[in-house]
Amino acid sequence: MPSIKKTPVLKISILIVSCMLGLIGQAWSDSNEDVAVATHLKPNMYNGLVIFRLCAKCHYEEGWGQRSGTFPQLAGQHAKVIIKQLVDVRDHKRETVGMDHFAMLKEIGDPQVLADVAGYISSILMTPNPGVGAGTDLAQGKKLFTEYCIACHGENGEGNNDHFYPRIQGQHYEYLLRQFKWIYRKERTNVQPGMVSAISDFTQRDAEAVIDYISRLKPPKEKLAPSVKWKNPDFE
Ligand code: HEC
Ligand code: HEC
Repeated sequence: MPSIKKTPVLKISILIVSCMLGLIGQAWSDSNEDVAVATHLKPNMYNGLVIFRLCAKCHYEEGWGQRSGTFPQLAGQHAKVIIKQLVDVRDHKRETVGMDHFAMLKEIGDPQVLADVAGYISSILMTPNPGVGAGTDLAQGKKLFTEYCIACHGENGEGNNDHFYPRIQGQHYEYLLRQFKWIYRKERTNVQPGMVSAISDFTQRDAEAVIDYISRLKPPKEKLAPSVKWKNPDFE
C-alpha cells in the first residue's frame, strides 16, 4: 500500500532540521499576544468586509475558495481559528503556498482588524457543494473519523471556536488532504501534538478515506448557502 511517508532519509533530515530550529519543542498552545487580544474584541463587520475584499481575490466573494482545493473555503470558519491562522502565517509559524504576502499586510498587525475580518468571514454562508473525494472508501473513513478525530474536531467535524479547533466539515477534499499530509510530515507545525500522534500510523489510503468522509459532512443548515448559485449580497 502506498504510504504518505517520505523516504526515511528525507524524514530524518526533516527531523534534524526541525530539532535545530527548535520546532519540535514549540507548544501548539503558545499564545501570541495579538491572538489573545483579537479573540476578545468585538468585530466591526463593515470594516471586516472592507478587508475581506482583498482576500476575495483568491478566496472569492463568497469565501468558498475552489473545489480543486487550491484556495480553501474560509466561509463559516470559526473566528478564533481564522485569527490564529492569520497570525501564524504572519509570524512564519505556518507556511502557505501563495498567501504569505497577504498575512504580512500591515493592517493584519492590528488586533482589531484581525477581529473584524475574522468576524466577517465566519458569518458568510458556506458552499453546499465542496470538492469531495472518490467516495469509494467511506465506511472506513467514518470508522477512522470516529476513532481518531472527533475528540477534537467534534462529532460532525464542526470544530470548536473556544478551543481553536477548525471546522473541517464541508471543506474541499484536496485542501484538507494537503493539510493533513503536511501535518503528518511535520511540514505544517502549528498543530496540537495530539493530532500529530493520532495520525502517525495512517496510510495514504486511510488519509484519503477519512478526508473524503469529512469533506462530505454537512455543516448545520443555518451555516449553509441555500444553493450553489448563492451570491454574497455584500458584493452586489
Ligand atoms: C494571493 C491569494 C490569496 C489571498 C489574497 C489571500 N489568501 Fe488566504 N489562502 C490562500 C491560499 C493558497 C491558502 C492555502 C494555503 C495552503 O494550502 O497552505 C490560504 C489559506 C488561508 C487560511 C487558512 C485556512 C484554514 O482553513 O486554515 C486563512 C484563514 C486565510 N487564507 C485567510 C485569508 C484572509 C483573511 C485574507 C485577506 C486578508 C487572505 N487569506 C488572502 C491564498 C490567498
Ligand atoms: C488532539 C486534537 C486533534 C485530533 C485528535 C485531530 N486534530 Fe486535526 N487539528 C487539530 C488542531 C488544533 C488543528 C488546527 C491547528 C492550528 O491551529 O493550525 C487541526 C487541523 C486539522 C486540519 C487542517 C484544517 C485546516 O483548515 O487547515 C485537518 C485537515 C485535520 N486537522 C484533520 C484531522 C483528522 C482527519 C483527524 C483524525 C484522523 C484529526 N484532525 C485529529 C486538532 C486535532
